[in-house]
Amino acid sequence: MLKPNKLVNSNFLSCLDLSAEEVFDILNLAQNFKNKTLNIEFKDKVLGLIFDKSSTRTRVSFQVAMSRLGGTTIDLNPNTAQIGRGEPIKDTARVLSRYCDALAIRTFKQSDLEEYANWSSKPVINALTDLEHPCQALADFMTIKEEFIDFSKVVLTFIGDGNNVANSLILCGALLDVEVRIACPKGYEPNPLILERANEIYENKNLLKVTNDPYVAVSGANVLYTDVWSSMGEESLKEEKDNDFAGFTVDSDLVSKADKNAIILHCLPAYRSKEITEEVFEGENNRIFQQAENRLHIQQALLASLLS
Ligand code: CP
Ligand code: NVA
Repeated sequence: MLKPNKLVNSNFLSCLDLSAEEVFDILNLAQNFKNKTLNIEFKDKVLGLIFDKSSTRTRVSFQVAMSRLGGTTIDLNPNTAQIGRGEPIKDTARVLSRYCDALAIRTFKQSDLEEYANWSSKPVINALTDLEHPCQALADFMTIKEEFIDFSKVVLTFIGDGNNVANSLILCGALLDVEVRIACPKGYEPNPLILERANEIYENKNLLKVTNDPYVAVSGANVLYTDVWSSMGEESLKEEKDNDFAGFTVDSDLVSKADKNAIILHCLPAYRSKEITEEVFEGENNRIFQQAENRLHIQQALLASLLS
């Protein structure tokens, strides 16, 4: 019977916390949870959820994942907890980790997430920061693996802002040695430290490309991925970003330059006629809701690996 392997790092703050082997193990475990060929119990374990930003998929997939493992979650709304009134992270982390078995945190600064992890005695999981969205990247590569089986045949093109989702795709792509192309407007390139780290990790050094031309990036690609132009916390930049991202909409013309069997991914929520057209979003090659479902199986696999 397949068993989760305990992860070397006790926290999951970044894709960099995993080795390539651990990513493959989590994908395999998640597929087994999905196929219902695995029944692992973490009875009475409690996951605390601290979400400073809105969430549908991440919050609910963690809740259902814990429930399927026989445990439970506590949703700690920062507005009704003392953290919202300025209680320091280091105090909150020391208290909550005495009650909970793990904490999943969605916040703005990666350094705040790291502060939680430094003071928590239990595993801390990145449920999205401005820098990374590593749980999302695992579900994305699970979806890609279901479609193509062999990562060496994959060219993944991300069209949009080089922030959290793109950064985690880059790092996970580097661990798995998958060709990743990022197309973004000038000034919206991925974090340079992430690019540097990814280039160190890649075995094949030619697999990571960043361009300001979406047509160059999609040529022959078999996975096209996009994300919102204005991320959570950037509401006041919406008009400016809508202008800056003109020409970066994933529409049928752009899709026609990719491989003819290219699949379409989107982490959601999606804004039609901004980053993606309704036609492409609803097209038969979209795997967007399979990708969203896989968030659940990945959370189960991740929790099982962290709590083992
Ligand atoms: N993709 C994603 O993280 O969705 P939520 O913001 O709804 O959690
Ligand atoms: N880049 C988006 C991802 C949402 C899942 C954001 O940070 O809002």
